[in-house]
Amino acid sequence: MSTVPTIALNNGVSIPQLGFGVYQVPPEDTKGATLTALEVGYRHIDTAEMYGNERGVGEALRESGLERSEVFVTSKLNNGFHAHDDAIAAFDESLEVLGFDHLDLFLIHWPLPGIDVDFVETWQALEEIYRSGRAKSIGVSNFQANHLRRLVQETEIVPAVNQIEVHPYLTNDDVRAVNTELGIATEAWSPIAQGLVLDDPVVTGIAKDHDRTPAQVVLRWHIQRGDIVFPKSVTRSRVEENFELFDFELSTADMGLITALNKDERTGPNPDEFNWIP
Ligand SMILES: NC(=O)c1ccc[n+]([C@@H]2O[C@H](COP(=O)([O-])OP(=O)(O)OC[C@H]3O[C@@H](n4cnc5c(N)ncnc54)[C@H](OP(=O)(O)O)[C@@H]3O)[C@@H](O)[C@H]2O)c1
Repeated sequence: MSTVPTIALNNGVSIPQLGFGVYQVPPEDTKGATLTALEVGYRHIDTAEMYGNERGVGEALRESGLERSEVFVTSKLNNGFHAHDDAIAAFDESLEVLGFDHLDLFLIHWPLPGIDVDFVETWQALEEIYRSGRAKSIGVSNFQANHLRRLVQETEIVPAVNQIEVHPYLTNDDVRAVNTELGIATEAWSPIAQGLVLDDPVVTGIAKDHDRTPAQVVLRWHIQRGDIVFPKSVTRSRVEENFELFDFELSTADMGLITALNKDERTGPNPDEFNWIP
């Protein structure tokens, strides 16, 4: 079985660089999919209140026989709960649904820059949660450079991570650079662009050279860039395939060719414009 490297966050907490994402896994299938991932060896699960499947993640962990401390679990504050008291209550609700007494990482899912609650207020609620010890780390998701700079200037705790869309068609290197400058780890969501990048001839060519699959090559590219990834799959063979990333290496030339595929193409919303509340 592969050994997954860990990354030290800015508060000293270790996070496995490879995890398993459960976005778009139906609630009724989440326990099974998560159990499969845990059996394969994943020890990091990325869920969110918005995905409606936190319960299945908690059930899988309990059924797996693993200790809670052996698995790094992230969840996220849903849109619509950005006001201070709502954020605290939503965190409590996530813990209750998961059946946990703490989360390893809790994120603001979207900055929602156009709503009437300032995300600085939301972040101050997460700071309180962190200080209570019930979230071992706190961070943000989909924050742009200007959002990060405001948090750093106006609040006390620097986010441990910023989870943003990154894949070969959206390298997002400007935001990644600001993350690095501020000591924030980058988590790359939709790391294979939900499959969009897997037929690219550059990717398939490099995969052939290494006798690997296109998904393994793209995930390995993320790993060598130093980002944290958690591909999603409900297909056991793919869950296994996506875990086998640590016994081969892309050359500097391969890395450059994949990075050059960037065309600033988002598969998800633009965080500057997204203000959707469920
Ligand atoms: N913070 C945010 O706003 C945000 C937004 C989006 C995602 N995320 C997080 O990032 C995680 C991953 O992103 P994602 O789920 O959007 O997309 P993704 O991991 O890039 O791609 C998932 C899709 O690719 C397929 N797939 C997986 N492995 C494959 C392989 N080896 N070969 C071919 N196809 C493969 C899956 O199909 P099957 O499942 O049918 O096998 C699924 O359709 C999410 O689960 C979530 O945790 C966060």
